Amino acid sequence: AALWEQLLGLALRGAPGAGGAAGPAGAPGTGAPGGVGVARRGHAPCSSGSLRFAAALRAELDARLFGQHLARDVILKAVAGFFNNPSPKKPLVLSLHGWTGTGKNFVSQILAENVHKGGLRSKFVHLFVSTLHFLRSDQIPLYTDQLQSWIRGNVSACARSVFIFDEMDKLHPGLIDAIKPFLDYYEQIDGISYQRAIFIFLSNAGGDLITQVALDFWRSGRAREDIQLKDLDSALSLAVYNNKNSGFWRSRLIDRNLIDYFVPFLPLEYKHVKMCIHTEMQSRGLQPDEAVVEKVAAEMTFFPRDERIYSDKGCKTVQSKIDVY
Ligand SMILES: Nc1ncnc2c1ncn2[C@@H]1O[C@H](COP(=O)(O)OP(=O)(O)O)[C@@H](O)[C@H]1O
Ligand SMILES: *[C@@H]1O[C@H](CO)[C@@H](O)[C@H](O)[C@H]1NC(C)=O
Repeated sequence: AALWEQLLGLALRGAPGAGGAAGPAGAPGTGAPGGVGVARRGHAPCSSGSLRFAAALRAELDARLFGQHLARDVILKAVAGFFNNPSPKKPLVLSLHGWTGTGKNFVSQILAENVHKGGLRSKFVHLFVSTLHFLRSDQIPLYTDQLQSWIRGNVSACARSVFIFDEMDKLHPGLIDAIKPFLDYYEQIDGISYQRAIFIFLSNAGGDLITQVALDFWRSGRAREDIQLKDLDSALSLAVYNNKNSGFWRSRLIDRNLIDYFVPFLPLEYKHVKMCIHTEMQSRGLQPDEAVVEKVAAEMTFFPRDERIYSDKGCKTVQSKIDVY
């Protein structure tokens, strides 16, 4: 393992194909500083990522992301390693897993904003939602052509392009095959290098198992912050390996070691939901009054039914709940 991995002390899984649940599975770069975001031959410059980038991302995640110490650590490590590597061998591929409303889209946006000003509004950041953009199974050949030409066209315009795939577990196997070559260890494909691009896959796969681990910690009186990647290893690999819906995804991407990091998102507690409400009110210029915050939080539903620890929808419905006030 590279030094920076050891320094960060995060759990690593071994050999390729071993199916690491958390931590790098591919061949991570060495931590040589500098040379970041420089346009390569044939690529227009589109991002000036620098060492400041990682620090800014860290500050932002610390300030805005609640209750996700593992996701925070893995993402910072992944990004620092990738951006500090002057010649990555493959694009950065992150797979974000967890219950709905726990911050997967949110973190992807923060990451995207730090790479390209404007985030999702930037023409270098692309969001695809399986059930929205690739809905019709009779259109797969068309989608395949489109998706490949979009990735090709956008990466040739900007090597640092960011592609986010939401609902990855619902993506048609044909489309997974379509994107697979771009994720692999190729120096170039038809004259274009994809090695500086960033792919982020979001799914709920493994969310229930992550929740189970969090619940076990809670029930035995241990702190949430003490949950380590290794505690989730088996949960995540089980989920991704045994879930029949993610079978294609597994065999096509995971077994081939194309996913660099699995990023777990924990279910959110009452106190995190209150923090979301607080933030949302502030961002609307409302005075975050504790009574109102509690009132909004009380309208959310929590599980397990008797213990009521985790929010059913994470922070997802907070915005619409505040609209009412
Ligand atoms: N861990 C979190 N910390 C801060 N805000 C969060 C968190 N999780 C969710 N939110 C808020 O809830 C909204 C919906 O979450 P989202 O990222 O879309 O969930 P997911 O993609 O995991 O289903 C976000 O835009 C954000 O405002
Ligand atoms: C870039 O991707 C978008 C979809 O996000 C697509 O509409 C556009 O045509 C692509 N650009 C190129 C040059 O392929």
